[in-house]
Amino acid sequence: MKIIGTGSSLPKNTVSNDDLAKFLDTNDEWITTRTGIKTRHLLTTEDLYDLAVDAAVKAIQASGLRPDQIDFLLVSNVANRHVTPGLSCIVQKRIGLTCAGLDINVACAGFVNALMLADSMMKSGHAKNILILCAEEPTKYCNWHERDCSVLFGDGAGAVVLTEGNAFKDVKLTMISDRDVLYYERGMETTPFESHYIKGQPLVMKGKELFRTAVSESAKDIKTILDREHLTPDDINWFMLHQANKRIIEGIRTIVGGTEEQYPTIIQKYGNTSSASIPIMLDEMLRADQIRQGDKIIMSAFGAGFVSAACLWDWEF
Ligand code: ACO
Repeated sequence: MKIIGTGSSLPKNTVSNDDLAKFLDTNDEWITTRTGIKTRHLLTTEDLYDLAVDAAVKAIQASGLRPDQIDFLLVSNVANRHVTPGLSCIVQKRIGLTCAGLDINVACAGFVNALMLADSMMKSGHAKNILILCAEEPTKYCNWHERDCSVLFGDGAGAVVLTEGNAFKDVKLTMISDRDVLYYERGMETTPFESHYIKGQPLVMKGKELFRTAVSESAKDIKTILDREHLTPDDINWFMLHQANKRIIEGIRTIVGGTEEQYPTIIQKYGNTSSASIPIMLDEMLRADQIRQGDKIIMSAFGAGFVSAACLWDWEF
């Protein structure tokens, strides 16, 4: 499997840390030193479906394929306005696709999990050309009266088109069931038979615990892949990590090794865009000609669950 096209899309509204400090008890210094985030893009007049379609259409155009040549659509999304139908159904026609698709929710690790599924579908002969679309609006499940979570997130979408090839080398998926560190509960309808109705509530996060688990699990995943593939950090051109927090990325680098230049970041511009963060970064790096034929890339993502996932590429155009 290899990637032959990428696309990304962000809301046009940029919100700075100073903008947040106008209505939250926070400041640029705290957010910058604790997270590395300076700005994020937030949905205003557009909706998530517009971003999803835009990113997907750009990825298909970059791939050189026609929409009718895409055999399957895999969408990663944590939550959007529709519980059902899935986001894949909502955007399929607008992208111009005729193929089937499905949605997955593996939180911020959705992109790497979708890559594993795409690889398996190609190997089993179910599909030759696959579109993965990660579209996320985490700012819609934060409590905007609290400073803890709302300053961390941004909205965005990233997409890739995959076809047969030999670039995708290895993948490792991990799940440690620990719902309490990060969760978002939606309210549901009440029934006359229910005795323990739970009202929905915005995102709940145990920041410090999540930080520690993210660093240790991601580092473990990456080291497993390096060991399995007989590689050292020096052999890797790019460690593309989920963009949750600059300090989490630095924590992982301290354990794994490698230089700061090997760990690109977009967190400063976009905040945490959940499963869209890696495909957005990949799209920007490819469009800036930063990635070369044969580059070794490790992707590692982690999030609510607690889940984590990492994979290795030997880049092939
Ligand atoms: N502005 C100012 N002060 C704040 C803010 C804010 N936005 N948020 C919290 N604080 C205060 C708290 O009230 C607390 O004050 P107190 O000490 O008087 O009680 C203090 O800052 C907390 O400071 P620390 O606990 O030292 O902050 P820490 O260094 O742990 O950073 C953070 C907090 C950024 C949340 C960190 O723990 C973190 O990044 N955790 C991981 C969060 C994450 O990545 N979430 C993303 C979702 S999941 C995923 O994508 C993996």
